[in-house]
Amino acid sequence: MSRRYPTLDEFIKKHLITPDFPKNSYVQELGFRELYVRMTTRYINDERLAPVLDIAKAMASKPGKGAFTKLLARLREQYPTLHIFAEQVLNDRFALRLEKLGFTKLNPNIHGESYFLKARARGEEQRANVG
Ligand SMILES: CC(C)(COP(=O)(O)OP(=O)(O)OC[C@H]1O[C@@H](n2cnc3c(N)ncnc32)[C@H](O)[C@@H]1OP(=O)(O)O)[C@@H](O)C(=O)NCCC(=O)NCCS
Repeated sequence: MSRRYPTLDEFIKKHLITPDFPKNSYVQELGFRELYVRMTTRYINDERLAPVLDIAKAMASKPGKGAFTKLLARLREQYPTLHIFAEQVLNDRFALRLEKLGFTKLNPNIHGESYFLKARARGEEQRANVG
């Protein structure tokens, strides 16, 4: 990556404070060679959900060394009101792991091969956690 992309934390925090900040970006995150994310509002099973972090493209620097597992744990801890949407998961092994981690497979006719993890908490607490 030649230019400096924001870190994932910078991207998320800017969004939570200034929602009109660009909604998609490559971001830097320890353990990832490439990570492309989006901040969205989604309608899932007729429910309007926001903020949703779409993980649109992910490539670990060294697959199988725990970068994704650590990232997910950190997101759940640091941003409890953030929903997570894993987009176009074409890797069957990873899809199975996502289900074990609590993600739900969405209707492929509507969402493609995507998985969703609902936020742990409701939105009001979010801003209080942005440090
Ligand atoms: C998928 C990926 C982003 C996960 O990140 P990671 O840091 O490797 O993940 P972790 O080490 O925390 O392991 C979590 C899960 O990732 C998947 N994974 C790990 N290494 C993998 C590899 N070499 N190939 C495919 N999937 C792998 C596994 O499902 C693993 O859980 P499991 O061992 O219980 O099945 C990473 O493995 C990767 O970049 N794979 C190649 C590219 C790819 O498939 N990207 C598309 C994702 S939709």
